[in-house]
Amino acid sequence: MKKKEDILKNGPIPAHVGIIMDGNGRWAEKKGLPRKEGHQAGAEVIEPLLDSAMKIGVKAVSLYAFSVENWSRPVSEIRGLWSLLEYFFSEKLELIKSKKIRIIHSGSLSKLPPKTKNVILKSIEETKNNKGIILNFCINYGGRQEIVRSVNEWIKVRKPNEMITEKKIGQYLYTRGLPELDLMIRTSGECRISNFLLWQCAYAEFVFTDTLWPDFDEDSFYKAIGEFQKRERRFGGI
Ligand code: IPE
Ligand code: IPE
Ligand code: MG
Repeated sequence: MKKKEDILKNGPIPAHVGIIMDGNGRWAEKKGLPRKEGHQAGAEVIEPLLDSAMKIGVKAVSLYAFSVENWSRPVSEIRGLWSLLEYFFSEKLELIKSKKIRIIHSGSLSKLPPKTKNVILKSIEETKNNKGIILNFCINYGGRQEIVRSVNEWIKVRKPNEMITEKKIGQYLYTRGLPELDLMIRTSGECRISNFLLWQCAYAEFVFTDTLWPDFDEDSFYKAIGEFQKRERRFGGI
């Protein structure tokens, strides 16, 4: 069992952690439950995870909740996910506010049901001045789409003959202003990026765990942080 104190003295703390919250469906199937219950159990893990991250001084957490590819799932499952997000953003908002968490969103809200879109916008608005940890909810998000969007946003203000640069792309990403992504965690044993934070993960450390998302507790999180602390980050140097 890793404790907060051990983590803090062991090494650097990642400023920005990305999490691909995968394995809700399999968690439910293993228990003979409908997939929906896996998503529900998965949503309950978010708040304790944020507590664990706050305790050790993580500045920002990006959570992958719905990818642009997830539209290929059955409509009934997608509807269930919107209801769950509505529940999360309305029922947990007061608690989130009391913990000074600031919510931001990455992705396109335009195709979401109005009710879902509104609870997300309300949470962003009501937490915009909070100075605690940043919770970047990635909903209807795709890394490639984010890069294309960023370039298109820049084109709107482009001066004649001006060229695109890394800095300009960064300025129009959803994650502008957030610290560099230091650590990317994916649960459920899959070892792929699934179109998540493609630009941002250039020098992130990757930790893959077999734990299914609904079982991902403080101990699992601190284990991933411990793994991160063992890595030698060279950034191209020697
Ligand atoms: C991740 O869990 C949550 C979402 C993609 C919304 P999955 O639903 O992908 O769970 P598995 O991979 O089928 O177990
Ligand atoms: C990635 O998980 C998306 C989210 C966790 C929201 P998926 O379960 O959709 O990814 P694939 O299909 O296995 O790559
Ligand atoms: Mg999955």
